[in-house]
Amino acid sequence: MTAEDKIFSLEGKTVLITGGSRGIGYAIAEGIIDAGGRVIISARNSKILENAAQKLGPNALAITCDVGDPKAINTLIETAWGLGPVDVLVNNAGISPFYNRAEHVTVEEFNSITDVNLRGAYFCSVELARYLFDSKRSASIINIASVLGLQPDLRQSVYAMSKAGLIQITKALALEWADRDVRVNCLAPGWITSDMTDSLLESRHGERLLSNIPMGRYGSVGDVVGAALYLASESSTYVTGAVITVDGGRALR
Ligand code: NAI
Repeated sequence: MTAEDKIFSLEGKTVLITGGSRGIGYAIAEGIIDAGGRVIISARNSKILENAAQKLGPNALAITCDVGDPKAINTLIETAWGLGPVDVLVNNAGISPFYNRAEHVTVEEFNSITDVNLRGAYFCSVELARYLFDSKRSASIINIASVLGLQPDLRQSVYAMSKAGLIQITKALALEWADRDVRVNCLAPGWITSDMTDSLLESRHGERLLSNIPMGRYGSVGDVVGAALYLASESSTYVTGAVITVDGGRALR
């Protein structure tokens, strides 16, 4: 084992990843397993989720959950903890279902985003914290926010607001739980090619979005993995409340 392997090792750790069936969440799951950890991935569609867990191999388990439903979150955390303590939670499940000017957003659309991106991440964290506090275990919580939570862009007002809220949830929980050794940090990715963004990035809007990235390229899901491993592993034991941008410099503009 090299010094780098050791510092980012997740040997013996269990990592729960919401929205782990594809995209950024799935890439993080692969990275965790490569670093020696076990993953529990969660998403809404059981069939796609089971296939993803099978592809990840024997160190992956699947638990179906819609994080937009607070009761389902209770069951998710109870079931996951029933399999053994959870050391790391990655609140990755998130949606961006429309690209529309602010004045056209409906109440239903507004709620659909906040239910998942904000309330979902909040209650996954809080439910897990109850088990952590009862058992006096330390943990790392990683929220997948977005650079749009730092710098808004056109036609994504509600999404940007939800991610700004997630950044503030990160800081508030980090402050409250620092004395229990539960660290809470977040990643703020820029434009990453995935099922969520492919059609937008390939549309007529793509040229403008790309031109705003100082490094001149979109990120890949693999670009997010290293920062997630850092926050999950012992190499970040004195880091809490941090926002790490993984955006090719997008937040600089
Ligand atoms: P994706 O759409 O490829 O994957 C999203 C995952 O979340 C899927 O596994 C999906 O099944 C799951 N999911 C969605 N709603 C859910 C719900 N209600 N309950 C449980 N699982 C649910 O998206 P991608 O690109 O991998 O995004 C992952 C996270 O990263 C999201 O939170 C997104 O907002 C964030 N992000 C993505 C960026 C990008 O450019 N792709 C940039 C910045 C942040």
